[in-house]
Amino acid sequence: MLSAAFIRRQLLRKVPPQRIEVTAYELDNALIPGLEETYEACRIACENSGVSFSAIIRNADFITEGTEMLSGDYFSTMPQTYDAAIVNPPYGKLPTSSEGYRALKAVKAETTNLYTAFLNLIIGLLRAQGELVAITPRSFCNGPYFKPFRQTLLTEMSVRRIHVFDSRTAAFRHDNVLQENVILHAVKHAGQGHTIRVSQSAGRKADPIYTRIFPTEEIVSPNDSEAFIHIPTSEKHIAARDQVSHLGSTLTALGLTVSTGRVVDFRAREYIRQNPETGTSPLIYPCHFNGLFVAWPKDRSRKPNAILDSDQTRSLLVPAGIYVLTKRFTSKEERRRLVACIYDPGRLLSHNVGFENHLNYIHKNGKGLDMCLARGLWAYLNSSALDLYFRQFNGHTQVNATDLRNVRFPTAEQLRRIGSHISNTSLDQEEIDSIVTGELKA
Ligand SMILES: C[S@@+](CC[C@H](N)C(=O)[O-])C[C@H]1O[C@@H](n2cnc3c(N)ncnc32)[C@H](O)[C@@H]1O
Repeated sequence: MLSAAFIRRQLLRKVPPQRIEVTAYELDNALIPGLEETYEACRIACENSGVSFSAIIRNADFITEGTEMLSGDYFSTMPQTYDAAIVNPPYGKLPTSSEGYRALKAVKAETTNLYTAFLNLIIGLLRAQGELVAITPRSFCNGPYFKPFRQTLLTEMSVRRIHVFDSRTAAFRHDNVLQENVILHAVKHAGQGHTIRVSQSAGRKADPIYTRIFPTEEIVSPNDSEAFIHIPTSEKHIAARDQVSHLGSTLTALGLTVSTGRVVDFRAREYIRQNPETGTSPLIYPCHFNGLFVAWPKDRSRKPNAILDSDQTRSLLVPAGIYVLTKRFTSKEERRRLVACIYDPGRLLSHNVGFENHLNYIHKNGKGLDMCLARGLWAYLNSSALDLYFRQFNGHTQVNATDLRNVRFPTAEQLRRIGSHISNTSLDQEEIDSIVTGELKA
């Protein structure tokens, strides 16, 4: 399909190339007869247009042969550079202990996912001005694991166009693939252009495609050390982006830090207690979130409520205080991907508190915040504008501390003004949004 699409486009050019030579990789034996048939059809179509055509089908591992081609010690007649690559690579983890990982490392292309491994090799094998079209999960756009890949992509390749499938399911309905997918078009060693075309469709055959052109720095900020790739799509997203991207602060600028909860429950099992007892501190899980404030302890909870407060656990605990917590994982059904809640020790007598590893907590030098600021942060983090903005560069359902470090925040004064309006514990989404938007527009 990929070769046929590519060849069709070549034959439609005003001046088609004189010769097309394809090298195709496919590990699955069952697909080889189909490939042979496709190439026979391609050969006939090319010949009818006066273009000479040849194809090598490699029923072999592209990681093995790609690394060999890249290191130049591949003896056969295989080309060592390519003008173009079109790829729908396999998705899946590539363990650091695997042979593939070691082979990639030898050519400085190591990465922990198969699809980024394929792309790293392809980027290496393209000649200058060579073009890449790849359909992949969206996960490379953010997240710490993909940072080295993003850096390779953004230094080696000029991103020209990104197509986003709206739905997690439409494009790969038949394969049970629940990832959000994108198609990337990029050109090697061309220097980053001024603009990137972003298009979007629902992924079914006759669905309309919406296209917009954005300044490159709106997609890849030159000041972003994480090299996140933001993909704005609908009007709603663009409005959210306008509101959020102009905000003047970050957690660091606010003097705040976000950390991941330190209590990994299966490692601290011996210290964890179902219910509070003498000598324990509260242990907070996402199940304790209850609107504005954490509700603790939780009766008949599936998760424990307490952790022993002792010398052995001290490094897992933080001093009692007001913290803003966010969930790291939300279910696909949850309306928002960013969900925040305030931990207020109130009149609890405990000196410390444990935050479980499925949470992030926002603190000031390891200690709590003032309530007004905490309420402002709570409202902002729970606002629809931030959620929509956040989803543009977060294709998975995880919200890590690094993700939050890269988010723009209102100033401390704005947050406190927002906080001063948050008195009711049962605000609905519309009320939160009108308070936040009202302040940010003011
Ligand atoms: C996501 S599918 C795409 C299939 C096909 N290219 C398409 O677009 O319909 C990934 C394909 O890569 C093949 N594959 C997986 N690992 C491979 C490897 N190491 N080398 C070559 N092909 C591989 C699989 O057999 C599978 O057919």
